[in-house]
Amino acid sequence: MPYLDEELALEGTVERAAPAPVSIRHRIQVAATMLRISQNTLKNYEKESGIQVPRSETGSVAVREYSPEVLFELAAWRRERGLTSALPRPVTLAIHNRKGGVGKTFLAVELATQWQLMGLRTLIIDADSQANTTLQFGYDPEIEEDVDGQEGVPYTLANLLKIPPYEKMAQPLDAVLKKPYGPHGPHLIPADSNISDLEQALISVSARDYRLDHLIRRGRKEPTADLDLRGYDIILIDLPPSITALVMASLVASDFWLVPLGLDRFGLKGLGNLIRSLTEFQSAFGRLPELCLIPNHYNRNRARSRFFLRSLKQIHGNLLTRVILRESEIVPRKMAASPTPVSLSSPMEDIVKEDLADLAQEILDRLAKLPPKND
Ligand SMILES: Nc1ncnc2c1ncn2[C@@H]1O[C@H](COP(=O)(O)OP(=O)(O)OP(=O)(O)O)[C@@H](O)[C@H]1O
Ligand SMILES: [Mg+2]
Repeated sequence: MPYLDEELALEGTVERAAPAPVSIRHRIQVAATMLRISQNTLKNYEKESGIQVPRSETGSVAVREYSPEVLFELAAWRRERGLTSALPRPVTLAIHNRKGGVGKTFLAVELATQWQLMGLRTLIIDADSQANTTLQFGYDPEIEEDVDGQEGVPYTLANLLKIPPYEKMAQPLDAVLKKPYGPHGPHLIPADSNISDLEQALISVSARDYRLDHLIRRGRKEPTADLDLRGYDIILIDLPPSITALVMASLVASDFWLVPLGLDRFGLKGLGNLIRSLTEFQSAFGRLPELCLIPNHYNRNRARSRFFLRSLKQIHGNLLTRVILRESEIVPRKMAASPTPVSLSSPMEDIVKEDLADLAQEILDRLAKLPPKND
């Protein structure tokens, strides 16, 4: 039986709630693939930018070792030089599906990483009290302060939305933000279990559906020292598998809904409900966001997978992405080992360098065609 004092004496030897992120270093051929450029171009950019890439001594040669921080810094430099593609206007995307476990969080984390490597500045809002996105970037939502080298979550979206009772606990965006890979990497507004209290609080305020939309608009159009969102091309909101007041507010704030789908009967059934609810959305809010359905967990060798993909194509072909995401055994294995985006830990796996990289590009192409906002 465990006793209090004995347990406390074990401190430091017990496993943490969230494993610490591993230190990632890639060789030049991998770094060039991640940035979608040739090795020579990468070397030239290093010279021109003066960005220092650490070397490790292996035998008699000093080999370049690229960390995520350095890769994101190089991507930011390329962007400043106009060497990467840009969007005509900033966009907000919600990742939504009432079905659980279909890959919403996986996509939020990986797309944000891919886009940032492509030179687009991305902010993820974790709006799910399960806080899986927060965990996957290496933060422990169960602790408020940093403990034992593990970073906690002192503030969340609740500290930015000025609604009772949280208006008394308002914080500037800079205090809330997490930057898991430094200033040039994707930024995160983390979540913890208090997000469920925020969902409740939102129910009783006026204009609840527009609260997040107003927050994002203010940060983009009338920035202040406490809230400046002009630095982001893409704001990506990871949502829980339900319809809460916060989910509704996130959908209202978004130009685009990304809907990952599991390729099974339940996935298709849920999708029918979602598509029907679009009509209600349009009559309530006078507009229709673009819908982008993303087949996930595809397994070519499974007849069921192929059958549901074919049905999807027949019913909703115009909404489906051209790229489908394969089921990959790497994903759960890597996730269990370390809370790091697979786009950073395993960039040469097919699921990353083919599926996720192509999907990130395809969605960007669709975002580039969004009509301008009339406000
Ligand atoms: N293409 C894939 N191949 C293999 N595993 C995957 C793939 N996509 C997602 N997963 C795994 O499936 C599990 C569920 O994914 P994820 O947490 O992203 O789903 P979710 O829709 O966010 O779930 P929830 O509704 O609970 O928020 C995770 O363990 C994730 O790593
Ligand atoms: Mg999730």
